[in-house]
Amino acid sequence: MKKILVLFLSMTMVLALAACGTVDTDERQNSSAGSPEGVRTAVEGEAAGSGSSEPDLFSICVTEPYSSDWDECLERANRERGDDARPELVENVDNLGQYGTVFLGYPNWWYGVPMALLTFLEQNDLAGKKQVYLFCSHGTGGLANSVELITEAAPDAVISENIFDCYEEEASSSREEIQNWVTELGY
Ligand SMILES: Cc1cc2nc3c(=O)[nH]c(=O)nc-3n(C[C@H](O)[C@H](O)[C@H](O)COP(=O)(O)O)c2cc1C
Repeated sequence: MKKILVLFLSMTMVLALAACGTVDTDERQNSSAGSPEGVRTAVEGEAAGSGSSEPDLFSICVTEPYSSDWDECLERANRERGDDARPELVENVDNLGQYGTVFLGYPNWWYGVPMALLTFLEQNDLAGKKQVYLFCSHGTGGLANSVELITEAAPDAVISENIFDCYEEEASSSREEIQNWVTELGY
């Protein structure tokens, strides 16, 4: 049976794990980014019941971390968006073929996605996966154009229309909603 992969990209993670490959538990708990750990825990719980194997967690990190200064971070992200940049990643997923289902988490940046997410999608082909599920945290802008950008970067991926999103300040308290979402998806 193919495995489940939970991918996430978050500014907090990028900052906390500048050159990360593995994720420290405390750092994960500190992140509010659409609760990637919450998604993994929820999938894990459901997978255990269904006999599926435990999902793997992978954080998408850039080699040049974003500034912890809010304005500098906004400015760089906006410049990268204007340049249609593809920030370099620390690493890609090993043996992507072993995964049948992918949960992909990201924050809304500038009405869309961090450009590093496009780097990731162009370098890690999600075509052929049974299903890709998106989860997103955001300010007041909701999903904005993020789904369109992801679909454009991964045109052959089967992306579910059932997307989980939450307001950034509610991410850390959204575990129950995430659990319900994962259950609704059948995991
Ligand atoms: C560079 C940048 C751009 C952002 N642009 C938007 C936006 O256009 N719309 C929105 O609703 N939120 C926007 N936000 C807020 C983020 O979506 C929010 O901070 C994020 O979901 C929180 O997750 P995190 O803890 O992983 O950063 C932006 C944040 C940053 C840092």
